[in-house]
Amino acid sequence: MEGDKILVTGGMGYIGSHTVVELQQAGYKVVIVDNLSNSSIETIGGIERITGIRPYFENLDCLDYVGMDRFFSKYENIKAIIHFAASKAVGESVQNPVAYYRNNVNGLINILELMPVHGVQNIVFSSSCTVYGQPDVLPVDETAPIKPATSPYGNTKQICEEIIRDLIFSGSAMKSIILRYFNPIGAHPSAEIGELPIGVPNNLVPFITQTAIGLREKLSVYGDDYNTPDGSCIRDYINVVDLAKAHVIAVKRMLDEQQPEPLEYFNIGTGKGLSVLELIAIFEQATGVKLPYEIVGRRPGDIEQVWANPQKANTILGWKAETSIEDTLRSAWAWEQNIRREKN
Ligand code: NAD
Ligand code: WQD
Repeated sequence: MEGDKILVTGGMGYIGSHTVVELQQAGYKVVIVDNLSNSSIETIGGIERITGIRPYFENLDCLDYVGMDRFFSKYENIKAIIHFAASKAVGESVQNPVAYYRNNVNGLINILELMPVHGVQNIVFSSSCTVYGQPDVLPVDETAPIKPATSPYGNTKQICEEIIRDLIFSGSAMKSIILRYFNPIGAHPSAEIGELPIGVPNNLVPFITQTAIGLREKLSVYGDDYNTPDGSCIRDYINVVDLAKAHVIAVKRMLDEQQPEPLEYFNIGTGKGLSVLELIAIFEQATGVKLPYEIVGRRPGDIEQVWANPQKANTILGWKAETSIEDTLRSAWAWEQNIRREKN
C-alpha cells in the first residue's frame, strides 16, 4: 500500500540507491540502513534531488545485532525489507573469504532473526546469476541446477538463498522473493546517482567509462578465444533502473499478498546476451567516443557465456527490461562525466 514503510539495507549503494528512488516515486516511505563501507553519504543528496524526498538514513552495520534491534524498535511497523547490504568483489572474496562469509551471511542472519521479533514478514533478497555458474542450457531459467560456486562471494549468495529457503520451509510465517540479477549496468537518466567503484573497477562498464574519460589508458578485453561467435565472453547486461523497478514490483506483490508460495525466485535480465566486443562497439556508436582496448588473456574464473530466460519475471511479475542498451550505456557515460566534473 502507498505510504508503507520499507527498509532498504545497502540503500546507499549502486543498486540500492536506484531502488530507493523507484520506491519513493511509487509512494513508499523508505528507511535506509548502510554502513557506507562501499558507498558515499553524498548519494542521499542525489536521491533527494531526483525524488524531492530525503529518505531516512541510519549509518549502521547489519552485523551490529543490538544496533539493528534498536533500529527496528525506533522505526516500527516496517512492512518489508530489501536486503542489498553485502560485499560484492569476487577477487577480494578469494583473498579474504572469512570477511565475506561474515558480512554477507551474518548480516542476513541478523536480519532474519530480528524480523519475527519486530513483526516483519517480507524480505526481498539480492541474489545473482553467479549461482548458475556456466549453465548447461542457455538462456538459463530458474529451474537450472545451482552449480558449485567459483568464489567465496558466489558461495555466500548460494548459502544465503539456502538459509532463506530452510527458514521458510521450517514453517515460519516469513515470505521472500529472491531476485537473481544478471549484470547490472548504467545509471539513473538524471546522472544524479550511479555506480561509484572504489579504486580500479573490476566490472566491465565502469572500466569502459573510466577509460573513455581518460582515467585509464586502455581496456583489457579478457580473451577472444572462447567458444562464442566473436570469441569474447557473453553476458546479459541489465539496466539498473529497470532492475530497481523489479524490486518495487516484488515488494508490492508481497504486501498485496499475491504470492501463491511463500518463496519465489526470479531471474532479472534482458534475455539477450552481448559479447564484450559487441558492448564496446555499441558504447562507441552510442556515445561517439572511441575506446582504446587490447585483447589480453582470459581472466581466471570467468564464465564463458550466460544470459537469462526472464520469462518468469515477464509473465508472473509483469516486469520486463525496457531500456535499450544504447540508452543504458549513454547513461553510464553521462554519470562518469558528471562525477569527474564534480571532482575537478
Ligand atoms: P554496492 O556495494 O554498491 O552496495 C552495497 C551497499 O551495502 C553499500 O552501500 C555498502 O556500504 C553496504 N553494506 C555492505 N555491507 C554492509 C553491512 N554489513 N551493513 C550495512 N551496509 C552494508 O553493491 P551493489 O552493486 O549495489 O549490490 C547490491 C546487492 O546486489 C549486493 O547484495 C550484491 O551482492 C548484489 N548483486 C550485485 C550485482 C552487481 O553486479 N552489482 C549482481 C548481482 C547481485
Ligand atoms: C563482464 C565481462 C569479463 C572487465 C561479476 C561477478 C558476478 C556479478 C556481476 C554479483 C566478462 C569482461 C571485464 C575488464 C573485460 N556480481 N571484462 N575487461 O564477471 O560477469 O560478473 O559481476 O553478483 O557475480 O562475477 O562481470 O563486469 O566483471 O565482466 O574484458 O576490464 O567483461 O571477462 O566477460 P562478471 P564483469
